[in-house]
Amino acid sequence: MSAQLPLIDSFGRLHNNLRISVTDRCNIRCFYCMPAEDVQFMDKSELLTFEEIERFVRVAVPMGIDKLRLTGGEPLVRRELNTLVAKLASIPGVKDIGLTTNGIMLAQQAQGLYDAGLRRINVSLDALTPEKFKKFTRRDGFEQVIEGIRAAQRAGFDPVKINAVSVRGMTEDEIVPFGHFARETGVEVRFIEYMPLDADNAWERGKVLFAHEIIETLSSSIMPLRPIEEESASGHGGPATEFEFDDGVGRIGFIASVSQPFCMSCNRIRITADGKLRNCLFSMEETDVRSLLRGQAPDDQIANAIRSSVAAKKEGHEINTARFIQPERPMYSIGG
Ligand code: 5AD
Ligand code: SF4
Repeated sequence: MSAQLPLIDSFGRLHNNLRISVTDRCNIRCFYCMPAEDVQFMDKSELLTFEEIERFVRVAVPMGIDKLRLTGGEPLVRRELNTLVAKLASIPGVKDIGLTTNGIMLAQQAQGLYDAGLRRINVSLDALTPEKFKKFTRRDGFEQVIEGIRAAQRAGFDPVKINAVSVRGMTEDEIVPFGHFARETGVEVRFIEYMPLDADNAWERGKVLFAHEIIETLSSSIMPLRPIEEESASGHGGPATEFEFDDGVGRIGFIASVSQPFCMSCNRIRITADGKLRNCLFSMEETDVRSLLRGQAPDDQIANAIRSSVAAKKEGHEINTARFIQPERPMYSIGG
């Protein structure tokens, strides 16, 4: 049965990781993702239903997909998200379900999500003061996010991680506070280099604060960082390189997507909220899975669409070349 062969692309990369965007809507407006005003959101009828998402995952799992992550937009604005989590958690072969959220609505939902079977949460938080938070997100809400992180820890989520996009001219003052925050709370803080996926098309290489610069600041201001050996690392770092402070207290991760692309170890595919399958954040083509799901296509045909998409995956993004062209969909519409 061809549907049972693993998803290996033409560069030998094995794909076991599916990111599922459940909405393109969001309750804040991070400048590196969304436009400030007049966002054109998808119509509700365009979104995959929970049943359609579940069916897609049931087809993908026998092909080797065993890790899922729910993203958006902001996934917690999709009503009853915990019922989707419960459906996905009940699929045999699904080993791991994670969620990436901005944290604004997390305090109210953390326990329900945990009870539905979710175990891993990443909270996007770029700054540790309300003022700087607003510069990144163009909205208020800092205290709600901090409350959300606390609620997630209380509910039992382990790990809870923070994703902080690192932007030159903005992130410098946050580095040392984040270092102390990681040490005091046990939350792993992961710095993600700012990528050209913003709706405003304002990204420039000069606006990226690089991972190695953050490592230098933390090492000289707090104490040296040492890389965590593969065996003792959580094994869930994915594209992140993980470090800990020399005294063993506090974990810091780096996703150096611009300065050290990790495309050659990429194991991910993504499905957008409107049911388009993408083999890369930066890909220019996508496969319309929704029309298959809504057109009575048999499982085989959906499996073939997944296989063809993986087979067509390019070697990597070309951010560092003059050939680079930013994809038409900004981050909120692709799904982080
Ligand atoms: N560059 C880097 N990271 C980004 N994210 C959203 N847009 C960008 C960008 N342009 C982050 C979000 C989220 C993660 C999925 O991606 O903050 O944490
Ligand atoms: Fe919303 Fe996430 Fe985009 Fe920020 S990065 S605007 S939180 S979808």
